[in-house]
Amino acid sequence: MSEKIYNFSAGPAVLPSSVLEKAQSELLSLNGIGMSVMEISHRSKPFEAILESAIGGIRELLQIPGNYQILFLQGGASLQFSMIPLNFLGADETADYVVTGTWGKKAVKEAKRCGNANTIFSTAETNFKSVPTQDELSFSDNAKYVHYTSNETIEGVEFKYDLDGKGLPVVCDASSNILSKPVDIEKHALIYAGAQKNIGPSGVTLVIIRDDLIAQVPENQHSMLDYRLLAENDSMLNTPNTWGIYIINLVCEHIKGHGGLGAMEKKNEEKAQILYDAIDGSDGFYRGHANKEARSLMNVTYRLPSEELEKQFATEATAQGLDGLKGHRSVGGIRASIYNAFPKEGVEALVEFMKNFAQKNE
Ligand SMILES: Cc1ncc(COP(=O)(O)O)c(C=O)c1O
Repeated sequence: MSEKIYNFSAGPAVLPSSVLEKAQSELLSLNGIGMSVMEISHRSKPFEAILESAIGGIRELLQIPGNYQILFLQGGASLQFSMIPLNFLGADETADYVVTGTWGKKAVKEAKRCGNANTIFSTAETNFKSVPTQDELSFSDNAKYVHYTSNETIEGVEFKYDLDGKGLPVVCDASSNILSKPVDIEKHALIYAGAQKNIGPSGVTLVIIRDDLIAQVPENQHSMLDYRLLAENDSMLNTPNTWGIYIINLVCEHIKGHGGLGAMEKKNEEKAQILYDAIDGSDGFYRGHANKEARSLMNVTYRLPSEELEKQFATEATAQGLDGLKGHRSVGGIRASIYNAFPKEGVEALVEFMKNFAQKNE
């Protein structure tokens, strides 16, 4: 490749180049076994070792206690929107949902098919620009769990604290900020995340689930939807996404070798600050979507004076090697996704481009 492309895609997203290089070097023959990781049985010793190492990597990075199981499932984070209520929300029962963006709304829609999915707090009316403070939340009596989305990928809105369920099991969709910073796992009963932002390639969903929640899985659950069975079978009730798990293991190794989640957080804060400073310093040419206190470190969303200029911005940026900046089709605008593996130099290149673009088009 002759020219560097900075990949701002929201997901599947940029992966550490050293991970891709390692995978490339092992593509035809894994560790000298003469076969690709994609060609070997998921029940083989080499793959078992990879799975164990990936689980260990996630456990170590997120400091997950022993009473939580780590699963690598399929069906995307979207299947978790259904799987969670199918296991934990009976027809006559209530679960609380905190809705701060498009993905949270989708989670509610699926949960309503099972029982009373009660939106206890929503920022829909103000166009998903903010998150509630802990004090603004009050939970339903007898709710089975409370669900929130720690980072809304489309709107670029992020919780700056781990939600406290005040005794209720907390379920978190952390698809787009998992592994970007340390998390207080013990505040949660279940955390799930599609892998394709900070963990690895698409096709794997990470689920971290506490044992007491597993114990509530109804008898006679469909096998592939049964967290208990999946946990008992080490995520291998059927053939897992072996390639995806292999890459996840490499990503975990990479993060560990680069200072762990504390270091990721620091780097992510620095990168986001550079970009938000450019937005705030543009005399209103660029307008951030999220309220300042809820700004995402992962997905920086902003508008330009007109949709026409937004289109032109994305087109010209792409031509200059800044790819994937067009906002989600449902909300428009510009979205720069700057996950763990996205380099600071790419953010600086974008800021330079933004300054020039504003100057030319003001
Ligand atoms: C926060 C969040 N939740 C859920 C999803 C859906 O994930 P999947 O495509 O893995 O089903 C996404 C996808 O981008 C997301 O960003």
